[in-house]
Amino acid sequence: MTQRVVTLAHYYTQPEIQQMADKVGDSLELSLFAREAEADIIVFAGVRFMAETAKILNPNATVILPDAGSTCSLVTQTDVAALKTWRESYPDHVHVSYINSSAEHKALSDWIVTSRNVDDIIAHLYEQGKKVIFSPDRNMGAYLNYQYGYDMPLWSAVCEVHDKFNEAALNEALGAVNGEAYLIAHPESPLPVLKRADYVGSTSGMLNWVKQFSGNPEAVIFVATEDGILYNMGLARPDLDLRQAPIYAGCQCNSCPYMKMNTIEAVKRAQQGIGLKIDYLTPAQMDAARLPIERMLDFSQ
Ligand code: 13P
Ligand code: SF4
Repeated sequence: MTQRVVTLAHYYTQPEIQQMADKVGDSLELSLFAREAEADIIVFAGVRFMAETAKILNPNATVILPDAGSTCSLVTQTDVAALKTWRESYPDHVHVSYINSSAEHKALSDWIVTSRNVDDIIAHLYEQGKKVIFSPDRNMGAYLNYQYGYDMPLWSAVCEVHDKFNEAALNEALGAVNGEAYLIAHPESPLPVLKRADYVGSTSGMLNWVKQFSGNPEAVIFVATEDGILYNMGLARPDLDLRQAPIYAGCQCNSCPYMKMNTIEAVKRAQQGIGLKIDYLTPAQMDAARLPIERMLDFSQ
């Protein structure tokens, strides 16, 4: 019997990979799609925590990550034993974790969030009078505390790509534009950058902002996130002047090395069943991690 292979790709993968995929999306969209996918094999052209989430949500499928090196700095910067001690020091708090975390990390969490639903889920918890701790993304947590006046204790890891955006390079780039200029940014960016942004949101949120842009057609729009999304934005709005936000003056190097390990050859091999199989999580580990993920998916539907 032929195997049903479903290929998922994150917006940060190169255009050719996105063209090979059955579904392209942000972390939330890909998790939902993986859960419902009627597939024997799910090829996840993204990073490892995404493939692990797909496996947890669809444990009967064989989930393959094309390149075993596709990690994420938010995962590698988080020592789970230290996280456990930190979590235990706030026994009366709800622990909210960003989806960019390992399965073990998720199992220590009460809620998982993505950049798309984090504002709503934390607002919901505060409305219920809960106290909240947030991990692992320090920048995202600092932004939420600033934007909504929360006082969440934060874990301290960063995205090594977004953390490089900085105010000085942005000021220079914005200052060099003669006419109108806008900045849109992913919440993994540092707070001084987010404070300057006209819009802060997930990859799909930024894409929608661009699709719906009805301002001055001559305006320059700087995009502070991984460079892969420029492909989708350009397809949607070829009429706009969309530019990567600079990391430092003259450098356009905001590319995620882990996402870019999804080469055409690696994805084709994965579609033949060759790559990192997510088969190392025990049923107990998957059950423990599924609980806070399902809580998020139920909230977001
Ligand atoms: P999104 O969920 O916004 O797609 O973000 C995923 C990610 O890894 C951002 O760096
Ligand atoms: Fe992780 Fe940053 Fe790469 Fe996203 S862009 S996968 S947060 S290292």
